[in-house]
Amino acid sequence: MTEIRTPRLLLRRWHDDDLAPMADIDADPRVMRWIDDGSVGELAGCTGLSVPEFLPQVLPAVAISWRFGPQFWGQGYASEAAHATLEFALQDRGLDRVISISQVGDDASENIMRKLGMEWESETAHPVHGRPLRVHAIDLTEFQA
Ligand SMILES: CC(C)(COP(=O)(O)OP(=O)(O)OC[C@H]1O[C@@H](n2cnc3c(N)ncnc32)[C@H](O)[C@@H]1OP(=O)(O)O)[C@@H](O)C(=O)NCCC(=O)NCCS
Repeated sequence: MTEIRTPRLLLRRWHDDDLAPMADIDADPRVMRWIDDGSVGELAGCTGLSVPEFLPQVLPAVAISWRFGPQFWGQGYASEAAHATLEFALQDRGLDRVISISQVGDDASENIMRKLGMEWESETAHPVHGRPLRVHAIDLTEFQA
């Protein structure tokens, strides 16, 4: 494999673990200012659908969840992403019902659930660490696109 050494640098082919540090470099607006259209396209976080197998008493079910970087909190991104994900689940994929599971005290997530039209359904405890959990749910017929 070709490698080039300079007094201070090693120029080499990519390694798999270069991906994350290179993504950090590309996420910096100073780096991207004169590249393409200058937009950064940072990764803000994630929202997704999964089968909550860790909580057998709610099964069968599909759960929606979210997690964003702190610099993206308080700007409505989580609500916006969650709404689009719920629409995808209920209207595109044809699910009848979607639930969401949060720890008691996670008021931000409960606010998102309320804004999505999800309703409190039950309270339970995490089977492994015992923290209290709340389950909210919404049926297809209640969802407002
Ligand atoms: C949960 C999380 C995604 C919310 O992000 P966010 O940026 O606050 O979400 P949004 O901006 O879409 O707004 C959420 C709503 O909750 C409100 N809110 C935010 N933080 C709050 C808090 N600590 N207490 C009460 N309400 C809060 C917001 O004002 C907003 O309501 P509004 O639209 O009526 O003003 C974010 O806090 C996060 O990623 N936390 C860490 C991971 C996590 O706990 N995920 C949940 C696992 S189920």
